[in-house]
Amino acid sequence: MRLSASFGAAMASSLAVCRLNMKGRGSLLKCLQKVDTFLHRTIGTNVVAAREEREGCKSLYAVEAERQEQAERSVLISCHSRMNEKKFLKFLSRHGDINKYFFYESYGMYAVVEFANRESLSSLFEEAAVPSVSHESMVPFKSRLLSLRNLGPADAPNQQPCRLQTSIPINELIQRLSREESMDQQITSLTDVYQLTEENSRLRFLVCSLLKDIAAAYFPECTIKPFGSSVNGFGKLGCDLDMFLDLDGISGKYAKMPKSGLWMEYQMKRANSERSVTQSILSVIGDCVDQFGPGCVGVQKILNARCPLVRFAHQPSGFQCDLTANNRVAMKSTELLYLYGELDPRVRHLVFTVRCWARAHGITSSIPGAWITNFSLTVMVLFFLQRRSPPIIPTLDHLRNLAGPADKSVIEGNDCTFVSDFSKIQLQSNTETLEKLLCEFFEFYATFAFNSTSISIRKGKGQNKPEVAPLHIQNPFEISLNVSKNVNATQLERFVALCQESSWLLQQSETNTPRGGNEGKGPAPWGLAALLTPSKVAGIKGRKKRRREPASERIKSLLESLKTTN
Ligand code: GTP
Ligand code: MG
Repeated sequence: MRLSASFGAAMASSLAVCRLNMKGRGSLLKCLQKVDTFLHRTIGTNVVAAREEREGCKSLYAVEAERQEQAERSVLISCHSRMNEKKFLKFLSRHGDINKYFFYESYGMYAVVEFANRESLSSLFEEAAVPSVSHESMVPFKSRLLSLRNLGPADAPNQQPCRLQTSIPINELIQRLSREESMDQQITSLTDVYQLTEENSRLRFLVCSLLKDIAAAYFPECTIKPFGSSVNGFGKLGCDLDMFLDLDGISGKYAKMPKSGLWMEYQMKRANSERSVTQSILSVIGDCVDQFGPGCVGVQKILNARCPLVRFAHQPSGFQCDLTANNRVAMKSTELLYLYGELDPRVRHLVFTVRCWARAHGITSSIPGAWITNFSLTVMVLFFLQRRSPPIIPTLDHLRNLAGPADKSVIEGNDCTFVSDFSKIQLQSNTETLEKLLCEFFEFYATFAFNSTSISIRKGKGQNKPEVAPLHIQNPFEISLNVSKNVNATQLERFVALCQESSWLLQQSETNTPRGGNEGKGPAPWGLAALLTPSKVAGIKGRKKRRREPASERIKSLLESLKTTN
């Protein structure tokens, strides 16, 4: 979630690296297989095949519903690192069949166990003991976060291969990319390394489900859903967990009024504004999480932010969590980003690459401030892809025109309607490679008329800037808002300079082709690896070789800036 700069200090606390050691059984979800197949498809060569695959794609709602249901049947167990896996499984299987399990490490070793039936949880809880302590008092709140204890003789541990599921350090990534043979391979490899794994995604839904159990103390019918990069397809391992407390089922928003006759109505307290209701709800849930939530630490209630939230660290998972309520537009943005990411694999690859490049050069930051956010950056990539000839993705207006009656969505007066049925979306046949697109992305923004033009994925073309902010990116759904309002002129200049330098670098023969070995240190960084090496990009300034934009580009920008909003 984005916050005002005053909460910067709070954001700065980083969480310990969370290592997931997966050992799962059962088949992966069909939808994930499809996404995976999608990723490995040859880019830009088989639009028809991509379309066939896309038609089978699940909507975000369907994927979320499945994940939520799995999470409700799951438990999170703190285990000994020297535990015997077989014995552990035998012990748990007494309560019912296990669909899936995996181990990971975060402040100790944990297991996520998904039972086939919910009844197994009741059986497990019946047997679970309340810890007996002599010096401290316990908060008597039982949850699905458990600890495995062993009073018997120590077991012979069995070591499982440990798969690291945090994003690897940038130096390691650069080395890995330097060994690839083409820039397209480098770009797909970066996505493979950084994207959320299936286990990490399951863990995110499980943490939401555990939080729901706490919130249910006040609101038994609530749900807590992840949004943002945890589910939009652009999440990097280690990204924060944005959660939405959904009270729509009881808020009266979608209540049906009987047409005639008698009926009963709940008596409910009235409040001045929806914002004040959201603040009170988050305030009590924040207290509840703080005082009763096992594993939840560093709880901060940030209720005066534009979007009120409760921030905390969930230690057993290692996630930094932001819990919001009444944030439906952000849910819609998440759904839209997911849809764009599913339309063509190049979308995700390019977003991952640009996000990683921006992070490596300090264009984005985990601390809020005048930086460009990942969300803004993603919208910039989408806009660029809409501007290709032919466009790779359609405009939001086009997606709205394809929508059916069931897709209609108006949130706080904002039209958030767009098509949910992927098969209705006809893509144009653009076969540009990832390498070409990345080079063109840098060129596009190196020469973009930021001073006069607003970026709008709704229209898919530049609009006249309605305000003087250095960077104007129209909020896709709340169209009068600028999602990059926080960005100052210095940060925008840094972004543009970096685009110019990166574009220049990719045109140099010594950096745009694979390099040989480097005195026993492996191949020298080239292509994307060079782009992610701050010294390589910064070195260009020293050489004073910064290229001026071509005249054609300047004229193009000028013309762009003259275009009217209509
Ligand atoms: P990272 O957390 O940086 O990986 O990306 P993220 O996409 O999750 O961004 P963030 O946590 O900052 O925000 C979560 C979600 O809130 C985004 O995906 C958007 O859907 C929404 N969001 C973030 N910033 C804005 C904004 O300025 N305006 C609007 N309307 N929505 C935003
Ligand atoms: Mg986020």
